[in-house]
Amino acid sequence: HVELGLWADLFLVAPITANSIAKFANGLCDNLLTATYLSARCPVILAPAMDLDMFQHPSVQANLAKLNSFGNNILDPESGELASGLSGQGRMMEPENILKRLEKFFKDREDFKKKKVLITMGPTQEALDPVRFISNHSSGKMGIALANAFRNRGAEVYVISGPISLKVDKESFHWKDVKSAKEMYHEAKLLQAKMDICVFAAAVADYAPAEIAPEKIKKSDSELTIKMVKNVDIAFELGKIKKPGQLHIGFALETENEAENAKAKLDKKNFDLIVLNSMKESGAGFQVDTNRVHIYGSGGGSISSEVAEKSKIAELILDQIKLAPIGV
Ligand code: CTP
Repeated sequence: HVELGLWADLFLVAPITANSIAKFANGLCDNLLTATYLSARCPVILAPAMDLDMFQHPSVQANLAKLNSFGNNILDPESGELASGLSGQGRMMEPENILKRLEKFFKDREDFKKKKVLITMGPTQEALDPVRFISNHSSGKMGIALANAFRNRGAEVYVISGPISLKVDKESFHWKDVKSAKEMYHEAKLLQAKMDICVFAAAVADYAPAEIAPEKIKKSDSELTIKMVKNVDIAFELGKIKKPGQLHIGFALETENEAENAKAKLDKKNFDLIVLNSMKESGAGFQVDTNRVHIYGSGGGSISSEVAEKSKIAELILDQIKLAPIGV
């Protein structure tokens, strides 16, 4: 009952109904289609078709967003006349267009074949005592989007992730969970030498408490001072041992002098590309599903994206990595 899912190179459901979308998004398994979906190890493409108001319903949209976060590719329905007699967005994408997407998919998939890719992602947690830590708002969404994109395009993906609450198909990656910057650095250092590409998408805490209290810190004085020490800069340290042919990609999150600061980090950390997220732009940053980025290359060039789903931004970043270092 799982053979179909294991055998396929690609799993396409066209058309997929609101009902099956809801089942896929929630792990229901009551027919051959849902059983195949749950056991499939290959990339998944879904072409929804339904009436226009059903497609716009928040519950359908939430289910599609969830499937998107699993790395499934959604082919947005086209607009036109619908079975109900109404007219609007809900028609399954035209078969010729689906075919074009499949052709592009298999062509694209080859472009990172046999490449080994390391991605650091998520926040780090720096312990204060056995029950408390210092961390940040990184959700890991951009890191997951990159990991899915690399995997879908044929790469062997190694993920080192700080604590995240997203549901991820860890089986399709070499996955390592870590908490502190120190642990993340230790794991990344073990892998760096055999990687073709390293992407530093983690929001690493810059400082950690100088000492981890062995017991819970009790409330006593009206003020508490915590001494912090600088954490290891993972990207900087690994940038020093980068060999010719290896590519290092960094991220920068800035609130002022964005471009200047990002370019300075590109040089300092020996990156080939740096992806700048600006906190000032709506639809970009932590926790949200969309992003808008500016990518700067070590060659001096740059490109800017529109506000788009993080999965689309990830594809754009991969396209630029393919061109590096002679590209942007
Ligand atoms: N980075 C890292 N290890 C650190 C700090 C940052 O690997 N200890 C990486 C990030 O994953 C990112 C890049 O370096 O790819 C830039 O991170 P950012 O936090 O913007 O830069 P910082 O060097 O920490 O500079 P600042 O916080 O002063 O802006």
